[in-house]
Amino acid sequence: MKHFLSTCDLSARDAVALLDSTMDMSRRRAAGDSDNLPLRGVTVANAFFEDSTRTRLSFELAARALGAEVITFTAASSSLSKGESLKDTLKTLEAMDAGALILRHPDSGAAESAVRNEWVSARIVNAGDGTHEHPTQALLDAYTIRSRFFGSDAAGKTLDGLRVVIVGDVLHSRVARSNMWLLTTLGAEVSIASPVSLQPKGVSQFDVKVFGTLDDALDTDPNVVMTLRVQRERMTSGFFPTESEYATFWGMSAARLSKLSDSSIVMHPGPMNRGLEIASSVADSSQSTVTEQVANGIAARMAVLNNIMGGH
Ligand code: NCD
Repeated sequence: MKHFLSTCDLSARDAVALLDSTMDMSRRRAAGDSDNLPLRGVTVANAFFEDSTRTRLSFELAARALGAEVITFTAASSSLSKGESLKDTLKTLEAMDAGALILRHPDSGAAESAVRNEWVSARIVNAGDGTHEHPTQALLDAYTIRSRFFGSDAAGKTLDGLRVVIVGDVLHSRVARSNMWLLTTLGAEVSIASPVSLQPKGVSQFDVKVFGTLDDALDTDPNVVMTLRVQRERMTSGFFPTESEYATFWGMSAARLSKLSDSSIVMHPGPMNRGLEIASSVADSSQSTVTEQVANGIAARMAVLNNIMGGH
């Protein structure tokens, strides 16, 4: 791969190879291997035009673990307030020798347009563009699922036969979008459950089942329930009557968790609204993979950086 912009165009073979590489990276981290530094001499620039905690830190750690230098730009402390454009910011970072740009931007399609218009020659990773895609999050989610269900035998495996329910604010979720592409490519049976007002437009382009209630979706005995943050900052009007009603109908509660089999897992990309889309006791339960997802994110991003910068 030259860039990593989307999970939509990944083949199953490439996706499995990235998961296998994530597994190698995770072992490498566990073993504290610091001899082999494939990105030595490379500068990775984080260009974050939107707030982020875990994604930015995770890319920083991933780049450093591979031996790269890291520079970080965040919108709040930049020349953006002086009207500098995305194009000029990326060109500035490239002029500082950045070979890879990790881009998070509030506009859907930002990373793709930087590549298409050839603003820079650096490699670009989409770290979240508006409500469009967040491909490294989907990769770490797929990896978390595969590790939980196949353990150390996971290498080479797809997610064939696993049932995944994605619940909540699918409309505003780039995480859901990237996961719908990737998890279906990997052979999982994916369903979404959300209020009609929070269903994505054009849902028929995804190979997913749509449920009108969370309880109906949970009746399918899913292996994975992926909860999503209610993205209040992207809501311009009322998408549901009240938060307590949302929690009652769409929240992953302790009662709902008890209906799942013991081996099923509950995921959340973070940041969580505890008590809204996920009950605190569920987020902290042994079936929750919330912190595991964060930890796996570093290895997944190492795999992506290593792939796009391969033989830099
Ligand atoms: C997600 C994001 O920013 O898209 N978070 C993340 O990357 N960890 C999900 C969200 O904001 O709800």
